[in-house]
Amino acid sequence: MNKPVKIIFALTSLVLSQIVMAQDKTVNDGVFTAAQAATGKSVYDNSCKTCHDMRFYRDILKSYNNQPVLWLWESILGTMPADNPGSLMLEEYTDVIAYILSENGFPAGDAMLDPDNGMDAIKVLSP
Ligand code: HEC
Repeated sequence: MNKPVKIIFALTSLVLSQIVMAQDKTVNDGVFTAAQAATGKSVYDNSCKTCHDMRFYRDILKSYNNQPVLWLWESILGTMPADNPGSLMLEEYTDVIAYILSENGFPAGDAMLDPDNGMDAIKVLSP
């Protein structure tokens, strides 16, 4: 290969790899750990169960179909628990989402769900 061709080739593969990286994940891709879901269960039992049942959360996931998980996290963070909004720790809100996803059939994986790391690029799917 001569030099200009090499450069074009290198640039093309760079652009292609960016496109692949930018592709969104979904909640089907193992985006939370089993440990997060387990911790989330106790948060859920203590703070979320009194006012909604799991059917409610299932409907919420449906209504967030194809929206970033981060939006759901932010919505819960700002408004829930309704009797004391913002009272939980940030990780507790994250873990509660892991638990709700897990209860609705989405798989745990190796990656931790982390609002500071890519949660805007993980799409909720309708369970
Ligand atoms: C004291 C009662 C109460 C508790 C406890 C509570 N909620 Fe809510 N929640 C509400 C009410 C009221 C609404 C708004 C009306 C509705 O949609 O039912 C709501 C709405 C929501 C929504 C819908 C928001 C949206 O974007 O549409 C989500 C998600 C939610 N709650 C999650 C949670 C989670 C997670 C917890 C635990 C951390 C929790 N709630 C605890 C009463 C409560």
